Amino acid sequence: MAEEIRKVGVVGLGAMGAGIAQLCVEAGVETVGREVSAELGENARDRIGHFLTRKVEKAQMDQAARDAAVGRLSLTTDLAGLADCDLVIEAIVEELGPKQELFAELERICRPDAVLATNTSALSVTEIASRVASPGRVVGMHFFNPAPLMPLVEIVRAELSSDDAFETAYAFGALLGKHPIRCNDTPGFVVNRILIPLLNDCVRTLDEARVTVEDLDAGMKHGAGWPMGPCELLDLVGIDVHVHASEALWDKLREPRMAPPARLVAMANAGLYGRKSGRGFYTYG
Ligand SMILES: NC(=O)c1ccc[n+]([C@@H]2O[C@H](COP(=O)([O-])OP(=O)(O)OC[C@H]3O[C@@H](n4cnc5c(N)ncnc54)[C@H](O)[C@@H]3O)[C@@H](O)[C@H]2O)c1
Repeated sequence: MAEEIRKVGVVGLGAMGAGIAQLCVEAGVETVGREVSAELGENARDRIGHFLTRKVEKAQMDQAARDAAVGRLSLTTDLAGLADCDLVIEAIVEELGPKQELFAELERICRPDAVLATNTSALSVTEIASRVASPGRVVGMHFFNPAPLMPLVEIVRAELSSDDAFETAYAFGALLGKHPIRCNDTPGFVVNRILIPLLNDCVRTLDEARVTVEDLDAGMKHGAGWPMGPCELLDLVGIDVHVHASEALWDKLREPRMAPPARLVAMANAGLYGRKSGRGFYTYG
């Protein structure tokens, strides 16, 4: 495997990919971002530039460092632009088919020693790697949203991941300033496997105990030491995102606690997503 990560490719510059690309350029690593259109790539670069400007305004970074970081990001719509990357991190749509296709193409384009990582939340890394002739190079790097702010990255070992690829990804997570943890490729990995059913329990308790949203949040903050209440957290994550992840866990594990409570499914269907739509358990505005 590549001894040192000098150049990184990020495929998909949406919410997660742009955040990951920002982390890479801030860490001083040359980064190529691949989007499906030049316009989407440029929008992502503008968002990254904007976030880094805010850091300058808050005196967390100086202007020269900001400009150098933005200068490290190049854009491409052509996957061949990732040919000389030491590591490629995929953050495209959460669908198995497109991810499998992309990894098969990346294998053709990238050097044989390049590590290929997926940021999937709910798919199996092993399945994503199943169309690749050398699956040893494929691992999971699961960042949390928003990637520039959340300290954790789960480094996921798929069934056939090589030790080299796994440890290269772990070391790169640390180089980005994250707190990496190692785990195997099981549904939900570590945090979502625990957090999703726990949040589902909280919502079921709302109805069973007939506690108010405010009192449930106060209960978990003041009685369990949570930094924010479960309803506040669901509004922040996005009720739609949570329901989608919960359904994925339920599909794979068939444990009743994994299934999204009817109340959350109804909220997602009604567009009550939380902060991003202005209304969820609470109203924002
Ligand atoms: N949003 C979260 O909270 C979160 C957290 C952790 C992991 N993830 C995972 O990260 C991945 C991306 O999620 P997101 O929320 O950033 O999605 P998003 O919809 O914001 O971004 C996906 C981007 O990928 C682009 N894209 C699609 N196909 C592409 C291709 N073949 N090549 C290049 N670009 C392509 C799209 O144009 C879009 O901009 C998913 O696998 C998701 O499960 C999401």
